[in-house]
Amino acid sequence: MGLLDGRVAVITGAGSGIGRAAAEALAKEGAAVFATDIDEAGLQVTASNISAAGGKVETLIQDVTDEALWDKVMDQAEATLGSPTILVNNAGIAIGGAIPEFSLDDWKTQMAVNVDSVFLGTRAAIRKMQSSGGSIVNISSVAGLRGAAGLSAYCASKGAVRLFTKAAAVECARAGWPIRVNSVHPGIIDTPIWQKSIGRLSEGMPVIPDVPEGANALDADTLGAQASPMGRPGRPDEVADLIVYLASDKSSYINGQEHVVDGAMTAGG
Ligand SMILES: NC(=O)c1ccc[n+]([C@@H]2O[C@H](COP(=O)([O-])OP(=O)(O)OC[C@H]3O[C@@H](n4cnc5c(N)ncnc54)[C@H](O)[C@@H]3O)[C@@H](O)[C@H]2O)c1
Repeated sequence: MGLLDGRVAVITGAGSGIGRAAAEALAKEGAAVFATDIDEAGLQVTASNISAAGGKVETLIQDVTDEALWDKVMDQAEATLGSPTILVNNAGIAIGGAIPEFSLDDWKTQMAVNVDSVFLGTRAAIRKMQSSGGSIVNISSVAGLRGAAGLSAYCASKGAVRLFTKAAAVECARAGWPIRVNSVHPGIIDTPIWQKSIGRLSEGMPVIPDVPEGANALDADTLGAQASPMGRPGRPDEVADLIVYLASDKSSYINGQEHVVDGAMTAGG
């Protein structure tokens, strides 16, 4: 018996990192997983892993910023797997850079991928789950709780996810829609996002003091060792376990809250 037997979960950005780990963990607990991403090859790896472990999975190539596609995602998940009652808004990117040089185009891209997507996904899920009920988990960041030099757009986007989550939770509960909405705030997690961001993040911005300049400056091991009192970055599966908990009925009275998984990174002064 799994925690999520009989449930259908939609998860974005499932072709890499935290999204892949969460998709696999949701499936391991019995959920049928509708996994989406723009990265087709990555998505296929996730799907193969789930299938090989005996789980149920369908995939769709989805750009989370595409408004029209969101209703299709929900409808296709329902048609192929059954009515979705879990949505994990996980897809995200990080564009770094000092504010004086930061372009409006990069700002808009950051907001579109990290914020518009969470609004569009949450709206589509609420429309679908108004009577059935469900759990929506939005992936924010510790960068949504406090500022970081050179990451202003990313911080702004993740702060928006934090407050949108709370407003959506209150609105659903007040309306009598049995849908919980929570946010997850990872610290430094060892995923490919650090390598993908490296070009722009390296453009003359201080990320963490005392990290040597160069390619290793954004290595997750180095960052995690410095930022977390536990002396290491988190693993994607350590975030996935929290996502599973919030998706499940084990968290039935936990709603509209921010859940930090950061190895005590933000616990100290
Ligand atoms: N890794 C960390 O340290 C960390 C820390 C805090 C928060 N997060 C957040 O966790 C989430 C997952 O990040 P990750 O570390 O696993 O990164 P990742 O780069 O490994 O995975 C992100 C996935 O999102 C997909 N994606 C990007 N843009 C997309 C779009 N427009 N439409 C659909 N899919 C798109 C990518 O293809 C990729 O598969 C993100 O929201 C990120 O901001 C990560």
